[in-house]
Amino acid sequence: MDSPAHLPVKRLADYRPPDWLVPAVELDLSLDPERTLARARLSVARRGAHDRPLRLDAEALTLLDLLVDGKPRPFAPASADGELVLPIAGERAVVEVLVELRPAANSRLMGLYASGGMLLTQCEAEGFRRILPFPDRPDVLARWRVRLEADAARFPVLLANGNRLAAGQLSGGRHFAIFDDPWPKPSYLFAMVAGDLACRRDRFVTASGRTVDLLIWAAAGDIGRTAHAMDSLKAAMAFDEAVFGREYDLDSYHIVAVRDFNFGAMENKGLNIFNAKYVLADPATATDADLDAVAAVVAHEYFHNWSGNRVTCRDWFQLSLKEGFTVYRDQLFSESLGSAAVRRIEGVRALRASQFAEDSGPLAHPVRPELYAEISNFYTSTVYDKGAEIIRMMAGRLGPERFRRACDRYFAEQDGRAATVEDFLAAMAAEGLDSGLFARWYRQPGTPRVTVSLRHDAASGTAELELVQANPRAGPDAEPLPIVFPVALFAADGTLLARDDGLMLRETRTRIRFEGVPSAPVLSANRGFASPVIVAPRPSRAALSILAAHEPEPLARYEAMQQLMLSALIDAVAGDDAGFGEVLLAAGRVLEGWADDPAFVAETLLPPAEALVAEAFELADPPAIHAARERLRRALLAGLGDWLWTIWHACAPDGADRSGRAKGLRRLKGIVLSLLMARDDQAATAAAFGHYCDAPTMTERMSALVALSHSNAVERAEALQRFHDSYADMPDVLDKWFQVQAASTRPDTRAAVERLAGHCAFDPRNPNRLRALVLGFALNQTRFHDERGHGYALLSRHVLEADRLNPQSAARLVQPLTRWRRLVEPFGGLMRAELERVAARPGLSRDLLDVVTTGLR
Ligand code: BES
Ligand code: ZN
Repeated sequence: MDSPAHLPVKRLADYRPPDWLVPAVELDLSLDPERTLARARLSVARRGAHDRPLRLDAEALTLLDLLVDGKPRPFAPASADGELVLPIAGERAVVEVLVELRPAANSRLMGLYASGGMLLTQCEAEGFRRILPFPDRPDVLARWRVRLEADAARFPVLLANGNRLAAGQLSGGRHFAIFDDPWPKPSYLFAMVAGDLACRRDRFVTASGRTVDLLIWAAAGDIGRTAHAMDSLKAAMAFDEAVFGREYDLDSYHIVAVRDFNFGAMENKGLNIFNAKYVLADPATATDADLDAVAAVVAHEYFHNWSGNRVTCRDWFQLSLKEGFTVYRDQLFSESLGSAAVRRIEGVRALRASQFAEDSGPLAHPVRPELYAEISNFYTSTVYDKGAEIIRMMAGRLGPERFRRACDRYFAEQDGRAATVEDFLAAMAAEGLDSGLFARWYRQPGTPRVTVSLRHDAASGTAELELVQANPRAGPDAEPLPIVFPVALFAADGTLLARDDGLMLRETRTRIRFEGVPSAPVLSANRGFASPVIVAPRPSRAALSILAAHEPEPLARYEAMQQLMLSALIDAVAGDDAGFGEVLLAAGRVLEGWADDPAFVAETLLPPAEALVAEAFELADPPAIHAARERLRRALLAGLGDWLWTIWHACAPDGADRSGRAKGLRRLKGIVLSLLMARDDQAATAAAFGHYCDAPTMTERMSALVALSHSNAVERAEALQRFHDSYADMPDVLDKWFQVQAASTRPDTRAAVERLAGHCAFDPRNPNRLRALVLGFALNQTRFHDERGHGYALLSRHVLEADRLNPQSAARLVQPLTRWRRLVEPFGGLMRAELERVAARPGLSRDLLDVVTTGLR
């Protein structure tokens, strides 16, 4: 993402180590929602020989007092914005500050803020400067001692990072607690919480025999729904010991659930703060997918204790060093819990839908960006998911033992330090990885395309494969990337003729010969999605049918079926439905295996999402894509309806069963139901409504509600009403009610969204609710794109309203409007015009301005 000219940018090339370090911080917060006083003593030390002043970042805070070595210093009267520059004579000094904060008025949810009666902090990436003037950069690591003081009745629980040293009552109904964190950390990992919270306790005994207290905090009424999060935490701790040899390093580990949170969760040292939706989950109120997401997020934040906290990032350009690596680590954990293949299929689907799309649009950027205007806008799928794919490739090249040794080396060498991508690569290189080649992946934006051509010579029984890589997005001088690219050749009857599991492309052009290939083979390329690349051209449907039937590698077989459907859909968008016949034959064969591997069959049978089909076009026509996909769904129903009904009746998972098989059966049943509802048919509607009423778990309830949400049947309104009435007092569940209606393909959806925005339970200050309704609608490919641009206008109204409250929320919400270049008219022009209207609005936040101006280019 290049940056808008009129916003100041930071560049990786300009990195300089800090002039001043802060070995120790003493922070004292006297908490009150209306007026909090923050008093701090920073011990500062000059680093190296220079005479430059101490610079403290400060934003939107009211400085009341400032002393250096006990002597008052003058400062701008009201609020220090931007920077506080302090010339200091000696090598060391003590800087004392007194700051006034207004957490109740903080709607940005960055720094110190209030949510649901509690007070809490969010500091990553640059939020600490909204609490205290401080060198708010990740390469300044301090030892922290924190004192909290608050009203004992309103805030009986006080938490901060590290060990609690003391606590006690004070006069006037107040109380205090003092914490010491023995592990030096940058300011972005600071956290505190004060509130009236209940707690679930457990313990974990580490590999070396230390007992760790585990505490999950939530509102009293929610604590019953935290058991799954606790189980996930213990499983993650055991996994990190077993697979990465990483042990936890404090006596306690806290997770706090909050309702108002900008992200999923945050890895503050020893005190993770979570969006409530990633903590509160049981089978009655969360789907299987929600429960899996909770496990993944809990593991992700726990794994940061090593990849992020013990070893942190030198600067924010290195963000993928902690995020990409930690995503890879949480993926391995999730793959270890159930079917690894199915989990990987879900991961690859998400990568294609979000990261490939990002990499082909105006917000594309390298995994390690070279410049940014607003760092909050770089917590992207590219930094996270493409970053994880790069690590996966490196781990695959090294193999499990050497990768483990390389990670051990990285953690040992960098422990307690702020590291760079080069440091990580150096550890990999020490175990034999060609890290200079892999470093290229961090520097280029864009998804590489590998063009394959296979020539068979019957006379000699040989096949020659030529592979050419290109990445136009990366510019003409882009170096070729190391592309891990396993291939296999199959005969028409499915016999494996040849394979090369270790193939890696290093040059622009690679040629390989296979001997012993008697008949014309079918190529299976990039098996197992070993590299995040696009393979071109798409194989013929005949070839894909062979692979869909015979590829033994599950991901490749899934891939063949998806490409087969995609190929048929691309023709269907142009009005030619002839490809549906081959899809039906292949899908029928896939369905035969439903009882053996229901989860795999479910994923494989699901036609590619409309957004994914859109990616296959230079210019997408959303209504035509929707219509084509609906025709394919109806063709599947017409051709396989008997089968689908048989499975519908035979598939009866036990609601209490959380095994991979039971989850797979529930998933399959949901997908079967959605196909049965491809026509508004009485029997299917009755089945869906019955499924809703008798649902043993939220998984069944949601698949029924989603299926009904698109229909015109009276049962739809009845189910929605029942859902609302059952869950009106559970905000995380009620979000689903908003989201399902926003995602409906019915023609009246936009009107429904307008109405829901006026519902008494709609609150644009709550990021979850705003996303459920408004982002839910913007991702609705069928109704967001209407011929008069009303859908785009609806989104921009909410973006502008959100921007006044919470710029980060607005900057995320606006992103669907940046896709205009990839849409046919009138959609592209209408969308661009809407984005221009947003850009022209005076007084936009930096966060939003950064995205809209980049999105207009
Ligand atoms: N460090 C991030 C939280 C964060 C995100 C801080 C964006 C500042 C800006 C945390 O570790 C994280 O990555 N959370 C993810 C969930 C995770 C499972 C990928 C999130 O919040 O979306
Ligand atoms: Zn993270």
